[in-house]
Amino acid sequence: MRDAEIRELPQLIGQEVRVRGWLYNARSSGKLRFLVVRDGSGYLQAVVFKPSASETLWNDAERLTQESSLWVVGTVKEDGRAPGGVELGVSELGIVSLCPEYPITPKEHGPDFLLNNRHLWLRSKRQHAVMRVRNEIVFGIRDFFYQRNYVNIDSPILTPAACEGTSTLFSTDYFGDTAYLSQSGQLYLEPAAAAHGKVYCFGPTFRAEKSKTRRHLMEFWMVEPEVAWMHFDGLLDLAEEFVSSLVARVLDRCADELAWLERDVAKLAPAAERPYPRIDYGDAVERLKAKGFPAQFGDDFGGDEETALADDAGKPTMITRYPAAIKAFYMEPDPTDPARALAVDMIAPEGYGEIIGGSERISSYDKLEQRIAEHGLPRQAFEWYLDVRKYGAFPHSGFGMGIERVVSWMCGLSHLREAIPYPRMLNRLYP
Ligand code: 4AD
Ligand code: MG
Repeated sequence: MRDAEIRELPQLIGQEVRVRGWLYNARSSGKLRFLVVRDGSGYLQAVVFKPSASETLWNDAERLTQESSLWVVGTVKEDGRAPGGVELGVSELGIVSLCPEYPITPKEHGPDFLLNNRHLWLRSKRQHAVMRVRNEIVFGIRDFFYQRNYVNIDSPILTPAACEGTSTLFSTDYFGDTAYLSQSGQLYLEPAAAAHGKVYCFGPTFRAEKSKTRRHLMEFWMVEPEVAWMHFDGLLDLAEEFVSSLVARVLDRCADELAWLERDVAKLAPAAERPYPRIDYGDAVERLKAKGFPAQFGDDFGGDEETALADDAGKPTMITRYPAAIKAFYMEPDPTDPARALAVDMIAPEGYGEIIGGSERISSYDKLEQRIAEHGLPRQAFEWYLDVRKYGAFPHSGFGMGIERVVSWMCGLSHLREAIPYPRMLNRLYP
């Protein structure tokens, strides 16, 4: 007799195994007691048959409560009607820990209650499916870059200065100095691109924006590639290849999870195919005006504008060449119009908003020095960043993608808070 995970059972028909897990639910029908056991790898219907069970076995099967931890021994049987196509004919049952009344029941709970119980909510079937999709996306990201010979270079989390703008930083005491939690690993990645050519970082990032929207978290995970010698057009191709390959991977490998989440995969499938529409910022403003938005050249787009732009195509849409004034200091000006930056935002369809922000980077020392001054940034803190332009300057480009936005979109969630195991939000730092 061996220990088995539930996911392996279809290969173990006829064998006696022990499965360890938690009681998901139970019901009785005459002489039968059906225990649905979950072990993280799947759900198993374990059946106790009264006439062949000892009194202890039957009583234990009856007193088990939701989420009690347990083990069952029995023979694996094929059963087309059972979840997973197999069931277990139970011969022995051990109660490891009898669970008191479990807070999360099949009835509806409000979001606050569920978030306060996030440590338990993670066990629920929907949340389980979301974390599986997240896991697939994370692994798909690493696989994508590994296959293309990128080197993973992680950036520090404790930093001395801002990257994306000073207003949104969390600060902490650093032995008498102030340190800031990183908003983006990009600045640290650019020097590594000179060392390795193609690099990426992937880690937690922090934004102290007092924003309550369903698209904002205070702590989120960002993946950022940075590529030496790559210009703006190459960057657009990379972003498109990256996102479409992740969508294809999730559609292929997470079909069960998407089904459980009731994701309309017909709406997701077009994003697995290239190309994605590319819209010049100026044309985007015109399109918005035509749709009745009060958009003006020079505006940054809000959520509603983004939704209107991406929904035309039903595919992620890339808005290019934003006004330099509304973008970060490090972005390369457009050679045909220096008031514009070689910047791109990729907007997901179905209202999921911006999933990627990126640009070609300024590669000239003088131009960057001037931008740092214009943005009122402390030059001394950026001396090392200027060195990347002093010692062998090179054209390079990169982008950042927040994975919770992508997980939300692929899973069809209504809020980013379910896309990360423990969300950090404006009024939430628990559990
Ligand atoms: O557009 P952002 O601010 O770009 C950067 O940080 C660049 N330095 C990236 C780079 O070029 N290497 O952020 C990038 C992405 C956004 O498109 C979005 O997906 C995500 O990070 N993001 C957030 N996700 C969740 N909550 C927030 N508050 C987010 N802010 C940005
Ligand atoms: Mg952005």
